[in-house]
Amino acid sequence: MGYRDVYAAWQNDPEGFWMEQAKAIDWVTPPSRALNDANAPLYEWFTDSRVNTCYNAVDRHVANGRGDQVAIIYDSPITDTKSQMTYAELLDETANLAGALRDKGVTKGDRVIIYMPMVPEALVAMLACARLGAIHSVVFGGFAAHELAVRIDDATPKAIIAASCGLEPGRIVPYKPLLDGAIEHARHKPEFTVVLQRQQHTCDLIPNRDYDWHAIQDGVTPAECVPVEGNHPAYILYTSGTTGAPKGVVRPTAGHLVALNWTMKAIYNVDPGDVFWAASDVGWVVGHSYICYAPLIHGNTTVVFEGKPIGTPDAGTFWRVIQEHNVRSFFTAPTAFRAIKREDPKGEMIKDYDISCLRALYLAGERADPDTIEWAQKVMNVPVYDHWWQTETGFTIAGNPAGIEALPVKIGSPTVAMPGYDVQILDEAGHPMKPGALGAIAIKLPLPPGTLPTLWNAQDRFIKSYLATFPGYYETGDAGMIDADGYLYIMARTDDVINVAGHRLSTGAMEEVLAAHPDVGECAVIGVTDELKGQLPMGFVCLNNGCNRPHTDIVKEVIKSVRDTIGPVAAFKLVAVVDRLPKTRSGKILRATMVKIADDQPFKMPATIDDPAILDEIRDALKPMGYAGA
Ligand code: COA
Ligand code: AMP
Repeated sequence: MGYRDVYAAWQNDPEGFWMEQAKAIDWVTPPSRALNDANAPLYEWFTDSRVNTCYNAVDRHVANGRGDQVAIIYDSPITDTKSQMTYAELLDETANLAGALRDKGVTKGDRVIIYMPMVPEALVAMLACARLGAIHSVVFGGFAAHELAVRIDDATPKAIIAASCGLEPGRIVPYKPLLDGAIEHARHKPEFTVVLQRQQHTCDLIPNRDYDWHAIQDGVTPAECVPVEGNHPAYILYTSGTTGAPKGVVRPTAGHLVALNWTMKAIYNVDPGDVFWAASDVGWVVGHSYICYAPLIHGNTTVVFEGKPIGTPDAGTFWRVIQEHNVRSFFTAPTAFRAIKREDPKGEMIKDYDISCLRALYLAGERADPDTIEWAQKVMNVPVYDHWWQTETGFTIAGNPAGIEALPVKIGSPTVAMPGYDVQILDEAGHPMKPGALGAIAIKLPLPPGTLPTLWNAQDRFIKSYLATFPGYYETGDAGMIDADGYLYIMARTDDVINVAGHRLSTGAMEEVLAAHPDVGECAVIGVTDELKGQLPMGFVCLNNGCNRPHTDIVKEVIKSVRDTIGPVAAFKLVAVVDRLPKTRSGKILRATMVKIADDQPFKMPATIDDPAILDEIRDALKPMGYAGA
């Protein structure tokens, strides 16, 4: 069957399609039906099943004779370490850590925050939670203590599992001060923490609160897998929305297993036993789905890479990892390739390696610009597949289903909607638009298994953010179009979310930090185009009347407070001090127009603008910073 047949089969019988895919999962109690629409427009999948994620990702492979197969390859050019862990070893490690957590009182439904860098223990921690039916929430290491505290208060975890440090090129990032600071600031206090001491930087433990990763597992009885209901949350992953408060995306257990397992062959075209590598971080959805869960559920070998595309030690690192570990399918963000291309424009370094094991490169997380795709195709000599998805969905909405049928690539398009997704372009009134017309990208409800059923502790926000604008549809927050062949094109976000080096960030959250500065009266943050990172945040601040402190001091202070409050990952380094912000007559800041000015793009003067002269002031402020056509 080709793609169109598979898509049509899903359209004709969505429940039958997913019940068929569900056969690949080992159930404690198999689902009697796929979709639960009792609370439409809120949907669930496989509600009456009972299942365990860790069993499907680990135990069953050992039971089925894959115990000696490598489950996790750890490759860390930053620490100059390489190691491997078989499925049998992963089972022991996971059952022991789960045993230790259980002995400290962690049970099904408890939340556990995981704050760890790219080490195999991060996956062990995730799986140990899944083993107990505890709900993990991984927090990216590049976030500051405040962001961790916000997540602690929202998820109210019983425990936090952390490492003593992360490692950035040329810099150790001690996690313990961030962890202690976050716990101190949070209203909710976890009962205990488990800390993995890394030799690059160890930390002091607080007696009776902090436990050493190894010591806590001494002599414990390994834990068995706890069956959970199909709709039990597997994890919460916080992502940026329009406001400063992150959204806790809930991942349902059964649908997650079924959908992710299906994608490994259909989209990534790997068979059990093949090596799959996603160069991302466990703190992001790509890391959840494609470093940890999907490859393991499907019986693949996954690579945990602690390094960067360049500088660890050079722009040949990706090629080395692919060759050395026999990687079949490789997944990363376009920004990583832009970085390599900038360092090694002719792709000279790849000549030192044999990457003939690789079948395809998959790009996602941000728009894949044509230059980058063409360069990657030329240098790597494999198909390059752009695919589009979100934290909310957990797997591909639109992609090239290479394991079903590799469709012709149209550069600039992530290809076509996957089974499970009825993607439509809607106008402002919610009417479907003609091929080629630009509009809001929406998905007809219900979303497929594995996608978010709700937001943690925030059902109303879930409905308001995703379901209210277009009744009967999920609003993706992206705008774009579908061409006459059904190929989708993603053009822009429709909200205040920006994408910096494949990292999803909220300009609203940064504005909250700027606004808190005592000298700042008013502010705006926009995303400007950047050759390497896709977008960069740029702040505009208007100072309070009477403030005569040097602007350079204030700029330095607000940059520091964004770094200290949100984290280095915000990459917030551009600030302009201006007298006024351009607004509509009703007082709405014209951020989209400011983006056009900064990027030196043509724009239509907004009909409702209060005072067009302010746009010239903005342009004048940006030119010395190298923007606005300077
Ligand atoms: N812990 C602590 N700090 C972190 C961090 C982490 N896990 N990850 C990033 N940071 C820091 C960086 O050190 C940097 O700090 P600096 O301002 O002191 O230099 C800052 O956050 C910004 O990081 P980043 O945006 O990653 O920029 P970079 O200049 O360090 O690297 C790239 C640029 C392109 C090499 C890098 O962004 C990259 O490899 N991107 C791949 C994209 C990716 O994996 N996306 C995930 C979604 S698929
Ligand atoms: P995240 O939730 O961090 O994965 O970010 C999801 C958002 O990143 C999407 O809503 C898009 O705005 C953007 N995005 C992800 N993949 C792509 C892609 N292939 N092309 C264009 N934008 C993308």
